[in-house]
Amino acid sequence: MANDTPIVGILMGSKSDWDVMNNVMETLEALNIPYEAKILSAHRNPELVNDYSKTARDRGLKVIIAGAGMAAALPGVIAALTPLPVLGVPMETKVMGGMDSLLSMAQMPGGVPVGTLAIGKAGAKNAALLAAAILALSDEKIAQAVDDFRKMQNDTIADNPSK
Ligand code: RP5
Repeated sequence: MANDTPIVGILMGSKSDWDVMNNVMETLEALNIPYEAKILSAHRNPELVNDYSKTARDRGLKVIIAGAGMAAALPGVIAALTPLPVLGVPMETKVMGGMDSLLSMAQMPGGVPVGTLAIGKAGAKNAALLAAAILALSDEKIAQAVDDFRKMQNDTIADNPSK
């Protein structure tokens, strides 16, 4: 997978987001979906976010997943600059528990959508699964990987219903 061209771009606003966003990476790896991951902030690196977003489609990316916290502008800014689907993962924060991040991402003005997931680890995992579901519409291997994941999840819970 390391040599495959990335089709999912993962961005996050800070190093401090990495551990949560690693759940995106682990889930994509489990589904054999090639990705790239970078730390770029909408506020601290606006020019780099601009360049990344504007070139994303031509470089072969198909979905972008962006994690950010506090005034979490990153997914919204990316969505304004690329026609690709953008999924947002709100980081948990000390002051408002992540509600600040969640509302910053979810409350996009009409016309520029960000598919906002749950706060933190669950949102990161689900962002990868939702990206996989989008990609599965036009990729049979990924569709099979998503089906296999669902079956494994079902069987794991069914085999250990008391845990
Ligand atoms: C956001 O500010 C980042 O996404 C991060 O969640 C938050 C805090 O960043 P640090 O101060 O930890 O770098 O841009």
